[in-house]
Order: sequence, then structure tokens, then C-alpha cells
Amino acid sequence: MDYNKKTIEDISLSGKKALVRCDFNVPQDDSGRITADKRIVESLPTLKYLLDQGAAVIACSHLGRPKGEFNEKYSLAPVATRLSELLGIQVKLCRDVVGQDAQEKAAAVKPGELVLLENVRFHSEETKNDPEFAKKLASLADVFVNDAFGTSHRAHASTAGVADYLPAVCGYLIQKEIKVMGQALDNPKRDFIAILGGAKVSDKIGVINNLLEKTDAIIIGGAMAYTFIKANSEPIGISRCEEDKLDYAREMMDKARSKGVRFLLPVDHACAEKFDAGAAPVVCKSIADNMMGLDIGPETIALYSKEIEKAGTVVWNGPMGVFEFESFAEGTRSIARSLAESGAVSIIGGGDSAAAAEQLGFADKMTHISTGGGASLELLEGLTLPGIACLQGK
Ligand code: 3PG
Repeated sequence: MDYNKKTIEDISLSGKKALVRCDFNVPQDDSGRITADKRIVESLPTLKYLLDQGAAVIACSHLGRPKGEFNEKYSLAPVATRLSELLGIQVKLCRDVVGQDAQEKAAAVKPGELVLLENVRFHSEETKNDPEFAKKLASLADVFVNDAFGTSHRAHASTAGVADYLPAVCGYLIQKEIKVMGQALDNPKRDFIAILGGAKVSDKIGVINNLLEKTDAIIIGGAMAYTFIKANSEPIGISRCEEDKLDYAREMMDKARSKGVRFLLPVDHACAEKFDAGAAPVVCKSIADNMMGLDIGPETIALYSKEIEKAGTVVWNGPMGVFEFESFAEGTRSIARSLAESGAVSIIGGGDSAAAAEQLGFADKMTHISTGGGASLELLEGLTLPGIACLQGK
């Protein structure tokens, strides 16, 4: 994919109306309170720049997965409130997306002001990338700025479709994400190491395959390690395993051998008889028939930490164990600590690994924590991201 895209600094903005796609898909508690506002905070440099340049901003985003109709639960109202606090200006929330209220507010918004459309997924046309819906959205503005890195892997009307009707450039967040991750993939400081964890091999198939072309070592943790261990004919007890991915796991280990990429699997485990937050960890090298692995063990932590010490660049996606259970968080915590203490360029994919780095207190020690879960995985996989491909080249 060509990453050399025009940015907000390459176009004139004064007096223009800018439709800005952000990813305000933030976690909320049961009462709708935002529990992590990183994605809103990360949108501020772009929004401030546009406002300072004299643009009138019409921001939009999705939140959650409403089924194509209005649903109070997924309203962007809490986002509008938080954004007002962070920007220090009043952010007016439209009652609809392309309806009368949005059209009136978009027509009235002045340079230096910002209005926020309601959740674009209140229309089923959004996820279908319906051209008529994209055209209506585009008709509200003069230019399109995509800064929603976390949604750039979706070919939706507000992430890609609008670019057919407006000059389209990226904001600072997309620029930063593709610069850091693009550089790591194309010209990494060596050794280049990928740490891959999480539950399923199937989620990481393309990523492992692509990273085997680029890295010096791949370190595997999380539940997906057990599929690889079983593929090596070693016991995994009642640990999670994807039987239909055993051949793929063997194929990847063969590919690693033939390319000279070190492929590291756990050598010991923290196990329990049940998937239970209260279970006491039993450390073992070979998993007994009645046990399941829930975290990497101390020898594995030492082995992986040694690899990280040698690294120039580390990309990490997916926790090493069930870090949500305190008794099985040690693997993820120790690897995060090793990474934080290493001199390596450290890049954390979004989603669970970003949450783990935050929760375990290492977030501010990392070089970059992506705001995209699925999007950063697809970037690491070498796929084209429609929300970036649609933007004007330099
Ligand atoms: C995310 O949280 O990964 C993005 O906001 C995309 O959301 P989606 O998976 O619902 O498209």
C-alpha cells in the first residue's frame, strides 16, 4: 500500500467546511460513562489544527455496532461532552447524521467551530458503503479529512465512500500511525521481533505469514501458543486449541525454519484445572491431561525477555495469558516490563495488548500504542486499508 498520502498540511483550509471522520468508538460502562478516552484525546491535534486554520469542522464517527437505526445506547452524546471539555469549546451534537438537523447545523457552523454528527451507524447505508449516503455526507462539507485510523480497515461510507465526492486527505493521527508502523515494517532497526499472543491462531494467520517475511524472531504467547505446541506433538491437556489450524501452525514453523526466523514457543506454563479467576496457578513444563495453560511460565518469561533485550524494534499484538485474572497476569506484565525497559522501538497493536499495557501501568513507556485493533493487525498483515487507500497521494 502507498502510505505517501496528502495530509491536512497540504491543503488550504481557511473558510472551508471539513468533514472529519474520527474513531470515537470508546469503551463505556453500563451507565454510558466513557472509561478510556485515548481515541478522543488522539483526535485533538487534528481537530485543533483545523480549527486554528479557520476551518469549520463537521466531525463524525461510529460508536459500537447499532443495527442501522437510532439507539440511545450508542448515541455520541457522551463523546460530545468529553470533546467539549478537552477542546474548551462548545461541541454541538446533531440529532441525526444526514437529516434536517445535521444539514442545518452543518450549514450554520462557522470557522473555528465544531459540530458532531450522530453515530454514522444509525444508518445501515454506512456499513454498506452506499454511494447515495456517502454523497449526502459529502454534501455537508468542502473537504474530507480521515483521521479514524481504528476504522481505516473498513470500506464504509464515512471512511472511504465520501472520498469519491470530496478532496480527501489524512489527519495527524493516521499520519502518525502509518509512519511508525510503516517504518517498522519497511525499515526496522534490527533485531526486529514480533510478539504475538491472544486467543486464536485464526485471528493472526495473515499477520504471522507476513511477519515471517520481515522479522528476525517471532515470539508466541497466549492461548494460541497451545495450537502450535500441539502441532509439535507435545501435550496441552485441556488447553484451548484450534484443531483445524494444526496444519497451518506446522506450515508456519516450517516457513520460519526455512527463512532462519527464530520462532519461540513457551517452554513452561502457569496452569489451572478450570478457567477461573480464583484458581491458583500451577507451574509446569509439560501440561497434565486435566490442566489448561492460562499464562506463560517463569522460564518462558526469562527466555522471551532475553530476546527482547537484543531487539531494535518490537511489535506486540496480543497478551501472553489471561491478564484479566491477577493470578495469570504475570506473563503479560513481565513482557510489558521487559519491553518498557529495553531500548527498542516498541509498538503495541491496539485492542487487548493496548488495554494490557494501560492496565498494567506500562503505557507511557512504549514508543507507540496504536489506536487501532483490527486496523493495526491488517496493516501488519500487509493488507490495503480502504480508509487510507482512498486518500489523495502527495
Ligand atoms: C475498533 O474498535 O476496532 C474500531 O472502532 C472498528 O470498530 P468495528 O470493528 O465495529 O468496525
